[in-house]
Order: sequence, then C-alpha cells, then structure tokens
Amino acid sequence: MGRDLLLKILDLARWAPSGDNTQPWRFEILADDHVAVHGFDTREHVLYDFDGRPSQMAHGALIETLRIAASGFERLSEWSLRPGSPDNAPIYDVRFLPSPGLSPDPLLSYVEKRVVQRRPMRMSPLTAEQRHALVLAAGPDHSVQFFAGLGERLKLAGLLWDNAYIRLTCPEAFRVHREIIEWGARFSEDRLPGEAIGVDPVTARLMQWVMGSWTRVAFFNRYLMGTIAPRIQLDFIPAIACSAHVLLRPGKTPRTLTDYVETGIAMQRFWLTATALGLHLQPEMTPVIFRWYARAGRSFSVVPKIDGRAASLASRFEALAGLERSDAVAFFCRIGYSAEPRSRSIRKKLADLLLS
Ligand SMILES: Cc1cc2nc3c(=O)[nH]c(=O)nc-3n(C[C@H](O)[C@H](O)[C@H](O)COP(=O)(O)O)c2cc1C
Repeated sequence: MGRDLLLKILDLARWAPSGDNTQPWRFEILADDHVAVHGFDTREHVLYDFDGRPSQMAHGALIETLRIAASGFERLSEWSLRPGSPDNAPIYDVRFLPSPGLSPDPLLSYVEKRVVQRRPMRMSPLTAEQRHALVLAAGPDHSVQFFAGLGERLKLAGLLWDNAYIRLTCPEAFRVHREIIEWGARFSEDRLPGEAIGVDPVTARLMQWVMGSWTRVAFFNRYLMGTIAPRIQLDFIPAIACSAHVLLRPGKTPRTLTDYVETGIAMQRFWLTATALGLHLQPEMTPVIFRWYARAGRSFSVVPKIDGRAASLASRFEALAGLERSDAVAFFCRIGYSAEPRSRSIRKKLADLLLS
C-alpha cells in the first residue's frame, strides 16, 4: 500500500466528529500501512471533557472512520491501544491490511456529509424501518431508547431548559464557550462557527458582546433575563422541533478508556447511519456530562448552587428515561429531518494533523 493511499484514508477520516471540534488526535505515519494515532483530551481546561470521556468517544469515532475510509481501498483496518500509554495521551496503533475484493462500507459516502444540525428540524416521526436501522447501527453492545411523542419531547424540552440554565450561569462553562465559538464565521477549521450554533443573527451579535466578559454575562443573567433568548432558541424549541431524542446506553457500565472508545465507535456508526437515512442529528451531551459529575459526587463550579442544580437535573433525567442511579448512559442526541445546515465546522488540514 503506497503513501498516497494512506494519506487519502487519513484525509477522509479527519471528518470524524469531536466535542467542540477539538480534533483530539494527531497522526504519526510509521509505515505506509501503519499509523500511530496520538490521542489527547482536554479535561484540564474544558469542563465538558469529564475524565476525558467525550474525547475518548471522539477517538472511537475516528478509529471507526479510519476503518470505513480504508474499506474504500480494499483494506481492512485493525487497531490496538498501545500498552502503557496513559489515559490522557493514548496511542492507538492502526494497521491497514490488503483485502482484495472487500466491498466499500455502505457508510463510506456519508463520512464527509455527516454534520451537526443545531437548528429546529421537522417533527415528522421516524419510520419503523429507520428505527430498526438505527438500532442495528448501534450494535449489540448498546441499546437505543427513543423519546418520540410530543409529550416526551416537551418533558425533555423542560429538562434541557434547566440544563441550559446551568450551562449559561456557570463561569467554568463560560470559559469554554468563549474559546470554542468562532463568531461571525460560516465555517471553522478548529472551533464551532458562530452561524452553526443555532441563534438568529441579532441574538448572535448580542451574545458575542455579552460573552466578552464574565461580568457582562453575570449582569445580563441577573438583571436582564439574559439566559432566556439563548435558551429558547438553542434548547427549548429545538428539543420539540425534531422527530425524536435518542439515548444510547451501553450494555455494561463503561469503566476503561477502551470502553469509551467502543462507545464512540457505536456513536459514529449510529450518526453515519442517520445521515444515510436522510436524517440530521445533534448531540445533547451536557445533561449526560452534568449527570457524570453529579453521580461521581464531584463539584464543578465555584458557584455554590450549581452542583445542587446538576444533581436534581440528574434525578429528573433518570426519572424521564427510567434509569437507575447507577445505569450508564453514553450518548444522547436529537434527530430529525431538515435541510442541510448552511454553516458547519470543517477540519484542520491534514498537514496540521501529521506529526513529522
Ligand atoms: C462526544 C461528542 C460530544 C458532543 N457534544 C455536543 C453537544 O453537547 N452539543 C452539540 O451541539 N454538539 C456536540 N457535539 C458535536 C460537535 O460539536 C461536532 O461534531 C464538531 O463540532 C464537528 O462538527 P460536525 O460534526 O458538524 O462535523 C459533540 C460531538 C462529540 C463527538
């Protein structure tokens, strides 16, 4: 297998999703059929990267995308976690093996097309065939729970409304939001473009100004009901305006880095299958992440009331989804029909992801 072919595989796999488009991976080419993927996570400075789990899920999405991309060139891929590599800097050895006659994976043509849709979608229900395909895509180790009726979507809209209040009043989350949005952009190589976050242009300009400092945010939140407009546009309306919310639940509680990587593999197959079915998807990971903090008994804010709010949100989430306190949840999202988003995250150039 030549170097050009390897570069083509890596170039396509770059389109794997990652939380806030962080792309927590770099590629070291060890041979024309062997890449070391140097993963990293952002737990030290990103509130949402709880114990690096979302980054590890992104690593799984990348590994699955490498496999799918390689299938387009009659190559199987095999991966292994390099023994001794630390959880916060895991190295995955990925090898590509010739497999003459191998058919391209049916998800291949959706790798670059898959995209987040954060705006309202149509409410037409999913068909039984679509549900079935999505359940199969998640694989045998993850169950799929749909919340489709209007009543369920309304309840989740209420939950996401309160969830957004935590997000918007938490200074530790503010520091992340300030870094990850590229305001005024339609496409962003290394962040979320302002146009893709899902608010109207006037609210976007106001948010950009307010987010210039925490003092402004706190003032707006306290005296001018500053959380209302973004919560309506980013959380409440989209939660209703979709076909369903979907929860991916691992069959056994994930404990190791590899478990979260496996979950990321399932997530990517699920998301690409949704794309193949003509659906759009938006991850809704913050209620899952706040529940991780709450159930681990870990404080995440200097604002005293926030941990208590996260704990009661976790209990409501569990009641809505019929979860025990100890039940694991891997991925939560909403799904539906909509036009292609006008704005999206793109990716760093391959040359910037290659370690020389
Ligand atoms: C593990 C994980 C968690 C994510 N969480 C959220 C989320 O809570 N809300 C959201 O709008 N997007 C979320 N995303 C979507 C990313 O922001 C998105 O994949 C990334 O910016 C790249 O954009 P693209 O998927 O449109 O190519 C998440 C993605 C991953 C892989």
